[in-house]
Parts: sequence; structure tokens; C-alpha cells
Amino acid sequence: MRPELNVELRPYNTLALPGRATAYLKITDPAQLTATERRREKRFILGGGSNLVLTGDFAGTVLHMAIPGKRLVGEDAEAWYIEAGAGENWHDFVQWTLQHGWPGLENLSLIPGTVGAAPIQNIGAYGLEVGDFLHQLTAWDFEKQAFITVDRKNCQFSYRNSLFKQQGWHLNGGIAIVSVTFRLPKAWQANCRYADIANALAARQITAPSPQDIADAVISVRQAKLPDPSITPNAGSFFHNPVVDRKTAAALHAAHPQLPSYPQADGRVKLAAGWLIEQAGWKGKNLGPVGMYEKQALVLVNQGGANGDDVKRTMAAVQASVREKFAVDLTPEPIFL
Ligand code: FAD
Ligand code: EPU
Repeated sequence: MRPELNVELRPYNTLALPGRATAYLKITDPAQLTATERRREKRFILGGGSNLVLTGDFAGTVLHMAIPGKRLVGEDAEAWYIEAGAGENWHDFVQWTLQHGWPGLENLSLIPGTVGAAPIQNIGAYGLEVGDFLHQLTAWDFEKQAFITVDRKNCQFSYRNSLFKQQGWHLNGGIAIVSVTFRLPKAWQANCRYADIANALAARQITAPSPQDIADAVISVRQAKLPDPSITPNAGSFFHNPVVDRKTAAALHAAHPQLPSYPQADGRVKLAAGWLIEQAGWKGKNLGPVGMYEKQALVLVNQGGANGDDVKRTMAAVQASVREKFAVDLTPEPIFL
């Protein structure tokens, strides 16, 4: 199959930023990847474009991962093993597992994007991360010109991080994930520790929630807080929640007792970036066509007609405000292309 040339990428990123790719190829079958050459030209592996800042034109080939398929591939006494193609929509896949009676992924409902992108930043929400359930994945390695299998322990998952990001493959298109296999334990336990989810269940008077009850609660909380990209273009949280050492957290807490903070297993403390941004005056504030969402200050929104430079300008202004007020550096979450 031949790539299309000079393709507008605005429809392919949820921030709706403009930019053209020299070449664009939709990948619906892993075999198409074996026809690509090792270092012929720059490439970018695109999923749903929901964690992406397009900074302008891309002088290379965009490989748009659209490999379909989802099936039960195994079962033992402890777990079900489910495989999905990289191009499957993540939320639809999660709902499909629940409908088949294979729970586990319900807290990750309504996260936009594809199955193949989920391991890249180890997507997470409401107390769970995809790495908790990943069994193994298969990817095309452009350098080796071979398919590789990576199991969970080699994925080096941590908060919004993985082997794939550490290797820089998310930027240079070093590998293309073609399928992911999940291990969903049969000993299911509800995870409703996150206050928003517990409150949503309590409001519905549900005391012993089913996996679908939790999915529904997650969906309602997300719909109330986060903008729908098809109406208000955005890329979800625009910054990581900063993780600082215990001494820094204690000093910040003494000065700002309301600052939400979450102790981590390694002794460090995660801070709520949304709170820092709100306190720095950015909730619902715009700079030109780009601002921070009025219901969730961590979400940067394109109010219409913005380009990559507009995004970078607002991002830098927010970072400067937070640095000035709290001496905390905010790291962007999306990938800049
Ligand atoms: P893209 O944006 O297309 O790509 C992201 C990165 O993955 C790029 O580096 C790309 O090269 C790489 N990539 C994509 N597919 C492949 C592949 N098959 N093989 C190799 N590399 C690949 N994230 C969370 O973790 N938790 C949340 O709660 C959350 N909420 C969100 C809410 C909203 C409203 C939005 C817009 C985004 C949210 N996100 C969240 C971010 C986003 O949904 C995830 O990062 C998602 O996994 C991105 O998937 P994608 O297919 O859109 O990837
Ligand atoms: N907060 C404010 N003001 C705001 C926003 C948040 O004070 O404008 C406070 C909240 O009141 C709360 C705390 O900050 O006390 C945390 O807020 P929230 O529960 O909304 O979650 P978050 O930390 O902003 C993270 C993830 C989300 C994920 C949710 C739920 C990151 C960077 N973001 O957001 O992931 O869905 O928790 O688990 O870790 C994403 O990565 O794109 C994303 C949306």
C-alpha cells in the first residue's frame, strides 16, 4: 500500500492543532510494517492523537495504527488472557471485556486513544494503571526488522512512564506496538478508594459495586470534570503531577495546608498539579486561543483556531506562574511532534 502525501493532521489529534505530514500510511495489518525500511526517513507512530501536541508540519511518515481485533487467547485457574489489536479504541475494548464477564479494567474506562498507545505512558486513572494488567505485547522493531515480544516485567512501568518512553521510541518511532495481551485475574476486587468514585457510588446508594457499576461511576465522574475533545479540543492532563522529596513536600504543606498530596511507596510525595495551577490563577484563564479548563485546571484547551506555538506560549506562562508561586517545575505529559 502506498502512503498518501502531504496530509493534514488536524483531524488526527484531539487538540485539533494544524500541521501536515509529508506522508501518511494507515496500518491495518502487521504485515505492512515488514515492508518499511530501517532508517529510510523520519517516522511517527500515531494512535488516536489524544496525547499529542502537533507543533507544525512533520517532515516524515506518519504510520497510523489501525490494526483491529480482540479475543480471549487463554484461561487458567487464576486469570483470563485477552489480546487486542493496537488500533482498537481503548474505551470500547474495556467495555467489551466487562460485557464478556472479564473484569479488571473498569477504572480505566473512558480514557481516549488506542490499545497500542496504552503501554507507552502506562495510562492510569482512579487508582489503577494499565501496567497492572499487561501480560505481554508484540511490536515491530524497525531497527531489528523483526517482531519482538515484551512481557510485563520488562516494560519498566512507573507513573506515566515505561521502557518505551525511556528508550525514546515514543518520539522516534523506534517500535510500533501491534497487539497487547492483558491478564485479568479471576479474583476480582473492587477498587473504589479514590474519593470521587466512592462518592459517585454512594450517591447511587451502591454499597457492593459490580465492575460495571464502577465503570459507570468512572464515566460519570470523567464526564463531569473533563472536556469532551470533540467539543473542546484537549489532550487530558497537560502536566504530570509533580513528585517531590519529602522535605520539599513538608515545606510546601506548611505554607499551603490545603495542597493535596499523596505519599508514594518510595517515600516521595506526589502533588496535585491541578491545584497548583488553580492557585496560580490559571483555572478558566486563556492566553490567546489556549487556556486552562474552567472545571479542571490541569487540562489545557484549544478554544478555537490555535496552533502549536499558541499551546507552547500558554504552557510556558503556566509553568512560570507555578514556578514563581510554589518553586515547583511542571513537566508536560503529551508528546510534542
Ligand atoms: P497518541 O496520542 O496517538 O500517541 C501517544 C504516544 O504513543 C506517541 O508517542 C505515539 O508515537 C505512541 N504510540 C501510539 N500508538 C502506538 C503504537 N501502536 N506503537 C508504538 N507507539 C505508539 N491518560 C491517562 O493516562 N489517564 C487518563 O485518565 C487520561 N485521560 C485523558 C482524558 C482526555 C479527555 C484526553 C484527551 C486524554 C487523556 N489521557 C489520559 C491521555 C491519552 O488518552 C493517553 O495517553 C492515551 O494512551 C493516548 O492514546 P492515543 O492512541 O491517542 O496515542
Ligand atoms: N484540583 C484542584 N483544582 C483543579 C483540578 C484539581 O484543586 O482545577 C485538585 C482536586 O480537587 C483534587 C486533586 O487536585 O484534590 C486531584 O485532582 P483530580 O482528582 O481531578 O485528578 P488529577 O490529579 O488532576 C489525575 C490524572 C488523570 C486521571 C485522574 C484520575 C495525572 C497527570 N492526571 O488527574 O489523568 O484521570 O488523576 O485518576 O496524573 C491524564 O493523564 O491525561 C489524565 C486525565
